[in-house]
Amino acid sequence: MTAKIIDGKSIASELLDNIKEEIITRTNEGHSSPTLAVILIGENPASKIYVGRKIMACEKTGIRSISHNLKDDISEEELLSIIKECNQDKDIDGILVQSPLPEHISEEKIIEAIDPKKDVDGFTPHNIGLLAIKTPILRSCTPYGVIKMLNTLNINLEGLDAVVIGQSNHVGRPMFLELLLAKCTVTICHSKTKNVQEKISQADIVVSAVGVPNFVKGEWIKDGAIIIDIGITRLDNNKIVGDVEFDIAKEKAAFITPVPGGVGPMTVATLMENTLIAQKLP
Ligand code: GUN
Repeated sequence: MTAKIIDGKSIASELLDNIKEEIITRTNEGHSSPTLAVILIGENPASKIYVGRKIMACEKTGIRSISHNLKDDISEEELLSIIKECNQDKDIDGILVQSPLPEHISEEKIIEAIDPKKDVDGFTPHNIGLLAIKTPILRSCTPYGVIKMLNTLNINLEGLDAVVIGQSNHVGRPMFLELLLAKCTVTICHSKTKNVQEKISQADIVVSAVGVPNFVKGEWIKDGAIIIDIGITRLDNNKIVGDVEFDIAKEKAAFITPVPGGVGPMTVATLMENTLIAQKLP
């Protein structure tokens, strides 16, 4: 079998067009443009690229973005006070604090300081909790982007055996919850998991988010499986690669996401959707 390569870029672009249309309709009805505060700390080159893409998507959809580019020696207190101001500002609908943060700042404290109604990354305990009890509102962008992508392709997830690789708070865990919500039977693998190969080889859908090139061997994949690659690594030769041995995997899978051009654009698009959702919250 040769897999259908999922074009995340075009699915995301369609989603951005729909968001733009809705924002035009809403502004014609007298609503203001949704507004996203984008907080970037330091000079991490990858973070600068990601934030640049998010700001470009705001421009494309008609979302106003307000950038806070902060020095990496900013104190935790100063950052908390910026978040507090954003929480209190009625003109701001969403707050994005790009991670990773400098080591002297507690990511947990920063995330918990964000008003859950403005938590467009879907990272706060409140929003993760809502997803866990099957009533999500603002959903973590990457896992939600994966689900939207599969829905667009009319892939029915009910009853599938899913394996998530990686247990991070931002991706692996909410991905587990999203797949459970979609009625998959979900296994989550991490560094202490036994027989990862065996688990992957039995999976109808594999979602990998470890950031280790070629972690998922193509030959492990079950014929006809759905392979979603969230890993992203820049090699020494500057090539960007995912976690999956793509060339071999694509000969076994039914669907596979490329890296780049797969899940990445969906993360940005769902951030825009969340900002619009946040604006509409009572
Ligand atoms: N760093 C890498 N990905 C993300 C993301 O989706 N949101 C935030 N806030 N930081 C990130």
